Amino acid sequence: MPRAHIVGWGKYIPPQVLTNDDLSRMVDTSDEWIITRTGIRERHVAAEGETTATMAIQAARQALEGAGIRPEKVDLIIVATATPDYLFPATACLIQDALGATRAAAFDLAAGCTGFVYALGVAAAMVESGTAQTVLVVGSETLSRITDWTDRNTCVLFGDGAGAVVLQAGPENGGILATVLGADGSGSNLLMLPAGGSRHPASHRTIAERMHFIRMQGRDVFRFAVRVIPAVTRQALTKAGLSLNDVTLFIPHQANGRIIEGAIRDLKLPPEKVYSNLEQYGNTSAASIPIALCEAVEEGRLKPGDVVVCVGFGAGLTWGATVLRWTHPQPAPVPTWQQFLRRLRYALVTIRSWLRHLWWKVFLRFGRE
Ligand code: UT7
Repeated sequence: MPRAHIVGWGKYIPPQVLTNDDLSRMVDTSDEWIITRTGIRERHVAAEGETTATMAIQAARQALEGAGIRPEKVDLIIVATATPDYLFPATACLIQDALGATRAAAFDLAAGCTGFVYALGVAAAMVESGTAQTVLVVGSETLSRITDWTDRNTCVLFGDGAGAVVLQAGPENGGILATVLGADGSGSNLLMLPAGGSRHPASHRTIAERMHFIRMQGRDVFRFAVRVIPAVTRQALTKAGLSLNDVTLFIPHQANGRIIEGAIRDLKLPPEKVYSNLEQYGNTSAASIPIALCEAVEEGRLKPGDVVVCVGFGAGLTWGATVLRWTHPQPAPVPTWQQFLRRLRYALVTIRSWLRHLWWKVFLRFGRE
């Protein structure tokens, strides 16, 4: 049976930074409180015009370019997100069009902050079954658009960004070795966006009651996370036939430094085996693990043969862990002429997309008569 190997990776972080001091001028909080209770120093926030799709496109292009794979080769695009551009169409379809991934099927996956781990699991199963050869998996979030900037309990936690990986079939001794996923909907009220769906469609009331913003019972989510991370990590390692001693790098969802500390204390993992970039980005939900994975590779913390465990938890409640054996070296720098060709190709894809939009308009106009 082939396994799904990560052959490309990329990320996009919006340039605009919001520091703890900035937040302390917006709500009753302080740099000291935020650092002590969360470990976060700053987060990046999307600018006007930047969305989940635009950030995902940047991360996806980088991942495909690093893998040396043309968008036309992609069979499937899965976007894990809690903040899609629209309820429908899927953000994955917007990315499919912008990349010119003309052969790809595309859908979004909603599993809160566990979304990327869920998406990796689905993608790996598609590759292993032979249904897809090349899959693009993206985690992208614009949480700043659903954050209540007057609520100090939540607004200090979240940030925006995107991460992406490309999966391809490869030999059995590497790639994604095991996935464990779980859910408990009885905890659905602990972390939610109450309005905007079929239960509470947008109305004057939902706006007046600030129901289009994240609501969270932080302490309960905290307790759930500290309990579930070690449990699902052990289950996934057992499924892969490995032990905690085999782990080279542990990449937990970047939600809170104290959650990560609690979990690794339980697992007795040395801190040098744990990746964290929470300080700079805050909690970017489904984007946090792919951004961390991408940065870990860029920093030279992963080499072929290393065992990586990615663990997510979040709204749903959901949780999940992936165990993978890293197989790909850092790609060589791309020569300037090749970079130019890529830019040219994307310019042509943009023109193609524009012409397709025009075609639909013409078709609708004359097709009706
Ligand atoms: O991706 C998954 C999603 N979410 C999470 O993983 C979040 C999990 N939960 C957490 O990370 C933590 O529970 C928080 C960081 C949200 C809160 O930390 P905590 O240590 O659990 O604080 P708390 O909720 O128990 O609040 C302690 C105090 C309260 O004041 P009183 O009632 O003791 O007077 C809060 O009102 O801290 C107050 N507080 C703040 N003070 C200053 C809450 N937020 C702030 C703030 N600045 N930003």
